[in-house]
Amino acid sequence: MPRFEEKFIDELLSKINIVDVIGGYCQLNRRGGSYWACCPLPGHSERTPSFAVNEAGQFYKCFGCGRGGNAIKFVMEMESMDFADAVALLCEKAHIPLPATENDFKKEKETKQKYADKNRLYDLMREAALFYVSELSKPTGAKHREYISKRELTKKEVVAFGLGASPNYDKLVNHLASKGFTNEEMLASGAVQRSQEKGNYFDALAGRLIFPIIDNMNRVIAFGGRMLEKTDFAKYKNTGDTPIFNKRKTLYNLNILKKEKLRLGKLDYVIMVEGYMDTIALHKADFKNVVASMGTSLTVEQARLLKRYTDTVLICYDGDSAGQNATVRGLEILKANGLEVRIVAMPDGLDPDELISQRGRKAYEECLNNALPLIDFKLKIVKDSNDLTTISGKRKYVTESLKIIATCENESLQEELLKKLRDDSDLTYESLRRDLEKIKSGEEVTVSVEQSSAVTFSGTATETAERFILCCYVNGEDFAKEPLDEEYFSDKFRKELSQFLTAKILLGKQIEQDKLKDFAGEENLEELLKILSAFDNVSEKAKERYFKDCERALLNNAIKVKIQLLKAQFEAETEREKRTEIAKQLQALTLKLTKMR
Ligand code: UTP
Ligand code: MN
Repeated sequence: MPRFEEKFIDELLSKINIVDVIGGYCQLNRRGGSYWACCPLPGHSERTPSFAVNEAGQFYKCFGCGRGGNAIKFVMEMESMDFADAVALLCEKAHIPLPATENDFKKEKETKQKYADKNRLYDLMREAALFYVSELSKPTGAKHREYISKRELTKKEVVAFGLGASPNYDKLVNHLASKGFTNEEMLASGAVQRSQEKGNYFDALAGRLIFPIIDNMNRVIAFGGRMLEKTDFAKYKNTGDTPIFNKRKTLYNLNILKKEKLRLGKLDYVIMVEGYMDTIALHKADFKNVVASMGTSLTVEQARLLKRYTDTVLICYDGDSAGQNATVRGLEILKANGLEVRIVAMPDGLDPDELISQRGRKAYEECLNNALPLIDFKLKIVKDSNDLTTISGKRKYVTESLKIIATCENESLQEELLKKLRDDSDLTYESLRRDLEKIKSGEEVTVSVEQSSAVTFSGTATETAERFILCCYVNGEDFAKEPLDEEYFSDKFRKELSQFLTAKILLGKQIEQDKLKDFAGEENLEELLKILSAFDNVSEKAKERYFKDCERALLNNAIKVKIQLLKAQFEAETEREKRTEIAKQLQALTLKLTKMR
């Protein structure tokens, strides 16, 4: 950001009049020594004026929303600009040259020249956009109109987004020439290109459906063009970087986003999608606070830009692209610039546009409600990309997860994530905590998935837990004197065995291992052996703690199963009273489940 000397800012403020500046945004009425208006600031709407502008002091103050300041502050608020841009805008309006960054006349002249050129380019792009719009309703625009209705867009969206049609290679060039633009200007705008072989000038987006890219000052700065035919290759072509367009510094739909902010004040959240069509589909479904990254990875400039509109960004990329590394890096950039980032998962590889048109607005809203915080999203990627049934996969999963959890600054969130990892991995909380501390202090850790749990056995975590518990019963461990009901066990033999053992334990009887062999019979012998060797990988010290973990896991499972059942019952039940009863039970169980975590 260029720095301005205090002297220059004072000079600027003395040359402009705040009454003129604010008067350009709203109707000011003189009353006494001040001017009054209904507050024009973003997010404040009122019927009786409480917004005052003091000419003598060159400041404004709203007695309703409390905001106030000088002319620069006002422009920053109204235009969602940073200080430097607001100063530049005021300078431009007052025809005051921006100070040259170096005391160099040549440079100053260049700057002036650059500003003049830029204004020509803005004019040119505006003219081109109007041209494309008018072409859309001509006979040559028939294919474009057909495409628009195929995509289920109505007149309303076409107007709101200024969609247009490029008829062919030549017409835009001729039109711009007739309006007095030179070939050089056309080339500089990016809207027109020059053929290398023949040297002729042509519409860069010839034949395409046109999406103007409009900045937050309502200026057309570039175009995106879509092929009307089906294609997998370069279906969109966009204006390249020009003096007025840098795709790394802008976002699609900023103009409408700004209007939303003016209406509502700082926005609760902004949805970030990839494509033009996604943006428009969301707009149609009445989500107006949307921007599109236009398919590129995010930059610091874009993060800062967004921060002026909101504190929370919901990332809603196409099913497959959200998990990619480049995307995650972009999201880190948003976070590093003070934005809260949440990721909206799109089901079945759909993009937002497809989801809304196939399943409706409600389905999309549900996706929004289920958005995951960035850290949970990263954990999910790690989980999905490792095979948890193998030891190496599981080790990688746990190690990577711990590294992610280590970046979390919030203590209680960290604990919550660690517990979730415990439930998913079957390791003990303590051992995970220990490894986490090592990672935090920069040590390399090899998480020993075998040692702290019995996952070396084949079978699922639940099986492992059930076997370990039964093994504790068999060995008469002191901490296992209150046996679980058979219903907590998932397989027939383990249920029977638990019953058999429970009877003995409650009677205080010794359990003879050779009797067990008879009890099991030939067909269950293998399972019995697995149960009896459940202690093999667990140290004496860890047994009790591990037992508790296993018990908790089974209780947890049982509750989850019950909840499932009740939910199904609830769906099927038609009587109101019974439904209420089931709902109560569901609520109680859900509470129990959360308390156990
Ligand atoms: P998508 O292919 O996801 O766009 O690319 P989309 O909006 O869903 O496209 P359709 O019309 O529904 O098929 C996302 C964005 O990436 C940029 C465009 O900005 C596009 O909106 N893009 C994509 C390109 O610049 N060039 C391409 O060839 C493809
Ligand atoms: Mn699409």
